[in-house]
Amino acid sequence: MFDFKIDAENKATMYRDLASALQGLVAGETDAIANMANASALIYETLPDVNWVGFYRNIGGELVLGPFQGRPACIRMSFDQGVCGAAAKTRQVQRVEDVHAFPGHIACDSASNSEIVVPLIRDGEVIGVLDIDSPKRARFTAEDEAGVVKLGEILTRVL
Ligand code: SME
Repeated sequence: MFDFKIDAENKATMYRDLASALQGLVAGETDAIANMANASALIYETLPDVNWVGFYRNIGGELVLGPFQGRPACIRMSFDQGVCGAAAKTRQVQRVEDVHAFPGHIACDSASNSEIVVPLIRDGEVIGVLDIDSPKRARFTAEDEAGVVKLGEILTRVL
């Protein structure tokens, strides 16, 4: 068991510590499922006010559920569906303050109100997305986006 005890009081410090914990956790491990499983657990237990953290992988042009923490979720999505699909299709981070106002949002947990999805791109190919949901409206700020993008960069190298 790993016990990182990351202080979530100060966001900048928290994301720095989270990135370094994630880097340590995946260092030297080449198994993508193990890395996604540990990453979702670490992020889920570190970030306050989140109810789902996990991965969708690009399998033959479709987003397929990967390791996650939270309630059981939608298994397959096309690039034309949901916030995750929008991230994969546009290759842009989707930071959604109110998921109920997002056209095509797929509600996996009715408790979710805001969401951030980071596309994971390696060698020009979208290999998947990292999806984080929150029950709080507008939970994710630009500072969260910068922090989560860094986590995505670390992960892209080990998936
Ligand atoms: N809300 C997502 C679907 C995945 S769940 O949140 C886990 C979306 O619209 O892409």
